[in-house]
Amino acid sequence: MNDVRPARLEDARAIARIEVETWRSTYAGMLPDRVLLNMSERRQTASWSSFLRHRPDDVMVATSGNAIIGFGNCGTQRDSTIRFAGEIYTLYLSPDRQGEGSGRALLNCLFQRLVQTGHATALAWVVKANPARFFYERLGGQQIMHRPIPVGGQPVDAVAYGWRNLTDALAKTAQSGDGMTGEPPIH
Ligand SMILES: CC(C)(COP(=O)(O)OP(=O)(O)OC[C@H]1O[C@@H](n2cnc3c(N)ncnc32)[C@H](O)[C@@H]1OP(=O)(O)O)[C@@H](O)C(=O)NCCC(=O)NCCS
Repeated sequence: MNDVRPARLEDARAIARIEVETWRSTYAGMLPDRVLLNMSERRQTASWSSFLRHRPDDVMVATSGNAIIGFGNCGTQRDSTIRFAGEIYTLYLSPDRQGEGSGRALLNCLFQRLVQTGHATALAWVVKANPARFFYERLGGQQIMHRPIPVGGQPVDAVAYGWRNLTDALAKTAQSGDGMTGEPPIH
């Protein structure tokens, strides 16, 4: 059965592996090949280990038995000019584990984390050409702005989806037709 829990330091490697695999499968043709080819599980493991050491409660993993099948992280909005308090930084499911309800459950837990840490609103950036943006629309996100984001020195069109009331959004993301509950993780 799929579940969601806060990440632990020892999950860094599995998170990095899914990140590299999912970036390559999702962004082929959307982001420069050079960026995808140069990604390294070793570097990403180091980066996630550092994030987890400093902010363990801001990372959630989706699991199936003992295996990690997806992850997401969140925190305070990185761009102080944007009037949304929180941000979903990443949300990725292993390519062979997408469409099982884990994305919804992860997003729900990240929203709960943001609410617990005093963020009433949130936003997520998505590459405009990525069909994953319809997932955010399905879960109540509204298009807030468009902006080119530099990736590997090239501008890539991105769309920001916003939730103006995370408490309301939690009710939406908790609804699931496939047995995933999106219940709060136990700390
Ligand atoms: C986008 C992603 C996180 C969604 O997670 P998921 O586990 O596959 O999605 P879920 O099974 O939880 O889907 C929840 C709902 O969204 C819908 N949905 C999911 N992906 C969708 C898509 N690409 N287009 C339209 N609807 C979508 C599902 O049909 C489901 O609808 P329902 O309410 O009728 O049941 C996942 O597919 C993924 O990791 N994709 C590739 C990486 C990526 O692009 N990540 C986002 C980067 S910003």
